[in-house]
Amino acid sequence: MDSTESTAADESAAADESAAAVESTAAVESAEQFWERHYRTHRDWGTRVNPLLAETAAPLLPGTALDLGCGAGGDAVWLARQGWHVTAVDISATAVERLRERARHLGVADRVTAAQHDLAGGFPPGRFDLVSAQYFHTPFPLLRTHVLRAAARSLRPGGLLLIVDHGSTAPWSWNQDPAHHFPTSEEVAADLGLDPARWPVLRAETARRRATGPGGETATVVDNVLLIQSTADLLRPTTGTERPDAEEH
Ligand SMILES: C[S@@+](CC[C@H](N)C(=O)[O-])C[C@H]1O[C@@H](n2cnc3c(N)ncnc32)[C@H](O)[C@@H]1O
Repeated sequence: MDSTESTAADESAAADESAAAVESTAAVESAEQFWERHYRTHRDWGTRVNPLLAETAAPLLPGTALDLGCGAGGDAVWLARQGWHVTAVDISATAVERLRERARHLGVADRVTAAQHDLAGGFPPGRFDLVSAQYFHTPFPLLRTHVLRAAARSLRPGGLLLIVDHGSTAPWSWNQDPAHHFPTSEEVAADLGLDPARWPVLRAETARRRATGPGGETATVVDNVLLIQSTADLLRPTTGTERPDAEEH
């Protein structure tokens, strides 16, 4: 895929640029304060759908969806407008309120449940036909693998888990370290350690798109795309082949 659309993805890449500041502020600023400051500073960000989510969800019959680290709600509101009932969570109360306002404005508030929620402290209740984690990156310690495993377990049989991660650095990003390793989709899948008989990988690949920087400049960037399906009857006991939720990412 090579999209020319500039979306929340570009904005989240730029959000990562803010990580440059975190080293100096980590001692005094929590993850919540960091992301609050981010969304208060960038009022117009994150309101458009990410193309890989749209591409994945468009052919599906709308059901229940969960958006992890939803930001200002470009994805959640898009899903609601397609008929999905969406639960959207983010550590930033400002982002969540912005999402709610937009859902009200567009007449889909009845299909959106948005909550300020720190995923480091627990996973939202419910079963979902689609769980989306778009650029679920943070410069703070987070048991991301733990969260994503919980996401796989929260899927209804037949449900999909879509994880889209940054796979390259834009020229305007603070991080120009050529040695920086962006985990591939295969590596993310291996880390999750899910039983492939219960959660087969439908897609693990890179996708290219044109991204737009803060000054309007553009560049091709790479996303890492992982799509996993649940075939499991979630009431069945686990087989013991899953790894324990132990490591930190
Ligand atoms: C790089 S941004 C991506 C936002 C959005 N998904 C998008 O595509 O524009 C990462 C998001 O994760 C959220 N986040 C970071 N740590 C979190 C946590 N522990 N619990 C919930 N959300 C978190 C941030 O507030 C931010 O909105």
